[in-house]
Amino acid sequence: MSKRILLGVTGGIACYKSVHLCRLMVKAGFEVKVIMTTAACSFVTPLTFQAITGNRIYINEFEAGTEPDIIEHVWLAGWADEFIIAPATANIIAKIAHGIADDLLTSTVLPYKKPIKIAPSMNVDMYANPVTQKNLALLASLGHDLIDPNTGEMACRTEGKGRMAEPEEIFEYVFSKTKPLAGLTVLVTAGATAEAIDPVRYITNRSSGKMGLAVARQAKALGAEVKLVAGLTSVSTDGFDTVKVQSALEMLDAVKNAVQNTDILVMAAAVADFRVAEYSGAKIKKTDDDEITLRLIKNPDILKELAPMKKNGQVFVGFAAESDNLEENAKKKLVGKGLDMIAANDISRKDIGFETDDNEIVIFSADREPFSTGKVSKDKVAERLLLFAKELHGKKNGSV
Ligand SMILES: Cc1cc2nc3c(=O)[nH]c(=O)nc-3n(C[C@H](O)[C@H](O)[C@H](O)COP(=O)(O)O)c2cc1C
Repeated sequence: MSKRILLGVTGGIACYKSVHLCRLMVKAGFEVKVIMTTAACSFVTPLTFQAITGNRIYINEFEAGTEPDIIEHVWLAGWADEFIIAPATANIIAKIAHGIADDLLTSTVLPYKKPIKIAPSMNVDMYANPVTQKNLALLASLGHDLIDPNTGEMACRTEGKGRMAEPEEIFEYVFSKTKPLAGLTVLVTAGATAEAIDPVRYITNRSSGKMGLAVARQAKALGAEVKLVAGLTSVSTDGFDTVKVQSALEMLDAVKNAVQNTDILVMAAAVADFRVAEYSGAKIKKTDDDEITLRLIKNPDILKELAPMKKNGQVFVGFAAESDNLEENAKKKLVGKGLDMIAANDISRKDIGFETDDNEIVIFSADREPFSTGKVSKDKVAERLLLFAKELHGKKNGSV
């Protein structure tokens, strides 16, 4: 377990929670050094962290040195086994994403060689701002670990996503020795397939790929080796061992190739049920006709195709996007597709599902009553789904 922890504290309301996080780390026996931004010092005093850690607090990179023989930002980056930034303001997230180094904290980020654990904390609209979202995606693609903020009441009296994860959750995320999926390989499909009509046009399904990517991200965080097969996604797949595909047939091939060495398969992709019967090699010209007819033929059902290849110990998980009769349809698919679990989404709701950051699924399996995750972030949904899949995997393989 890591012993030397560098805690970056930036200027947000959740600084008070960071004091508790610091205390948890000190109590666990870690040596903790704290870098505060000047804004952070307006929320809690350096003296608080100094008293808890027993170490001097680092704030100003140009201060005449108490340790004159070291260049502090380079030395601190080399010293730390773990680097946590909590709370992380929208500002620090933007600065790290773009390589800005204009204070001690950001100057220490650049020479630090390992992923940084970043706990965003901000007002719901700051968090939802597309610039913040792009910066967060950039940080994730660079390999940093983002600790998903919670949804709830904010200090600014708004309600939504952006509350920093609780200190205990951050502690657990960073230091948990238990990586329940360690040693397992999880294969995830994400995004939508695109069925080409001609070289410039295609038909596709609505899917951002966010749910599939959340499953991939959580599987990795829980210790699994992750393989991703991705169709069209509006979120980045960087940082994963990814096979990019376009059509359902390509996705079928890619999954068939990878599934043999997989322990848990999670099919979160929105695969088109139909493809165009006659692909036109040349762009279809605009004519004076008021209509054209595209004949569609059925795509293979990937899960049904995989069923005969399924090995005894493997766990296959499917998703069912339903607009009515959720339970009946999900149960039918569970049996009909030879699945161990199915995660059913009610796509008639506007607040969850397509393109949103939150989801609520009901998980159906052969040996348990259906249970709902409640409306939580897609990452939390993914975590619960994977832990349940792991439980089934354990039962099948005699380790539970
Ligand atoms: C009362 C108050 C609360 C704030 N809370 C947050 C916050 O929770 N998250 C955030 O990103 N910015 C927050 N800000 C704005 C930041 O403090 C501001 O962007 C600052 O420049 C951040 O500097 P730093 O990233 O160097 O710490 C808050 C500002 C004030 C005055």
